[in-house]
Amino acid sequence: MKKHRSFLPAVLVLLQLVTGGFAAGAQPVPVVRASQFPAGPVQEVMDGIVARLHAQKSLDEMRALDDARVMAFITPEERDTLATKYWCFDANVPVIVSVLRDEAQKVVPFWMAEEGFAKTALEVRNAKYAYEVWQKTFPAGRVGLGINGFEKHRPHYIVAVRPAKAGDKVALSNFFPADQQVSKLAKGAYVYHDWPDLVLTRVPRELKGQILLPTIRGRAREAHLIDDAFRITAHPATPAPDQIALTWSGDPETSQAIQWRTDLSVDNGTVRSRKQGSTDWTSTPAACCIIEDRMVENNARVRHFTAELTGLAPGTVYEYTVGADKDGRRSAPAAFTTAPSDAKPFTFLWMSDTHNRPETVPLLEKAVKRWPDTAFLNVSGDNVGTGQYGNDWDTLLGRWADFVKNRPYLPGMGNHDSIDGLGPELILALFDLPKNGPEGMAPGRAYSLRYGNALFVMLDVTEAPEKQAEWLENTLKNTDATWKFAVFHFPPFDPDANEPDIKKWWVPLFDRYHVDFALTGHVHHYLRTKPLRGGRVAASPKDGTIYCVTVSIPGSPQHIRKPRYAEAADFAENAFCNAFTVDGNRCTMQAIDQDGKLCDEVTVEK
Ligand SMILES: [Fe+2]
Ligand SMILES: [Fe+2]
Repeated sequence: MKKHRSFLPAVLVLLQLVTGGFAAGAQPVPVVRASQFPAGPVQEVMDGIVARLHAQKSLDEMRALDDARVMAFITPEERDTLATKYWCFDANVPVIVSVLRDEAQKVVPFWMAEEGFAKTALEVRNAKYAYEVWQKTFPAGRVGLGINGFEKHRPHYIVAVRPAKAGDKVALSNFFPADQQVSKLAKGAYVYHDWPDLVLTRVPRELKGQILLPTIRGRAREAHLIDDAFRITAHPATPAPDQIALTWSGDPETSQAIQWRTDLSVDNGTVRSRKQGSTDWTSTPAACCIIEDRMVENNARVRHFTAELTGLAPGTVYEYTVGADKDGRRSAPAAFTTAPSDAKPFTFLWMSDTHNRPETVPLLEKAVKRWPDTAFLNVSGDNVGTGQYGNDWDTLLGRWADFVKNRPYLPGMGNHDSIDGLGPELILALFDLPKNGPEGMAPGRAYSLRYGNALFVMLDVTEAPEKQAEWLENTLKNTDATWKFAVFHFPPFDPDANEPDIKKWWVPLFDRYHVDFALTGHVHHYLRTKPLRGGRVAASPKDGTIYCVTVSIPGSPQHIRKPRYAEAADFAENAFCNAFTVDGNRCTMQAIDQDGKLCDEVTVEK
């Protein structure tokens, strides 16, 4: 099973504050970049190249770029930066640096031969890729290497270092990017932090034991200019607010977070809200940031607003509009309902792997028609195809506009939302989520939320499970909720998955504190287990956790046999939306397929 752990240093997980614009007389507006690449000379050069391309070339011309055209477009200074300032370190003695380059990459990075790297006859392999080995001797001092290429070729090159003189002891320091891990080149070593299961299977004797510098696959996107690099969005921002979405960062009984966006011409925003039937509107100012995806040709920068309404009455309908006060562009009224303060019955929807695809819209509409009182939507990851693409989120929020402006959306983190180790900045910037997650992780990656008599624990499989275990235990231990739902992306019990870390760190806690349902996805099929405890079938739901996998877009049929621990499974190309109705000590889960047909149902009573 592929793993997709994030590696970016914590500092990059925070908002990148740069001067992006000023609201009149106010503080600089923070700019959130869709992809968190290491801030430095290469990023500056790429920003400049992309800006010049936007200014001088048509979209067709940009989409027709190839390596030769890019090389003709960039300046000698830019070329030098891209050749020598992308991956750097100091060596205390003369060293031989090996660049291990995927043989399947069509174009050798332009700088390798130019900078004096020579191809050897050596080859390194893992289960997926074969790497040719290029070498160069550097004197003691700064070693500077270049970009992976102008395409986004995922198997990024890897670096190995040894002393040029036998007997010298090599010490490397002053790395750029700064948070470089150092390991040893050997069979079994991993080379990508976002895919630690992909280990080296063949290492020539000449290279064994050398210093190995792993990376993340996402770095290949830092200089992405060719092969579908430039994108357009079907939903460019305008002065009118859109992408109005409800989430929660506080208590669903008394608060409501609301977000929306505009183009850059709008510099202020408020929510006006009132209890349904009241004549008094309350105005709540919104915080704003600029979200930037420089590769979206028709919508590279948008203004994003977030406001949190607090002090609301439980179980109450509120009407609201969003928009700018000054020029009067406001949304049509929409409404939301706060969570009840008692254990009144409620229904929520659960989908997974929606991947911003159109098929999710009729499915969601059928679900709302069947469960019109549904309180919110929970998605267990892979909300979109590429989490760092602004246009993917535009597509999703455009398609789900009618739902998410009236009912909160609880996005969970999937490998596609935080792809190739590049971090989840965009999803975290777009949605205001509870900031009660594990220490050391960016707020919103993992969180818990209490709704009625149910606890929802949203876990992030793109971070190490052990980093979330203590928080998970405390959260489960300290709740008096009747029902406990754990929501995360990779399924621990599924014929197409094997998650030893989740089984080791999370499953024993689900057992100890009796999580009722674990809601997962990723493998793009449907499966509901019998109640499991310690991985074994338990006598009843009172004794174990029911592990569910769902998928909300049609996939291709999978040739998998239903395992003995499964109660229900569907490995055909169906899409599903599940509804849970929690009513005191009774919880019923029902699933419909893309035709709206009820295809699975289970009721658990306490
Ligand atoms: Fe998926
Ligand atoms: Fe996935």
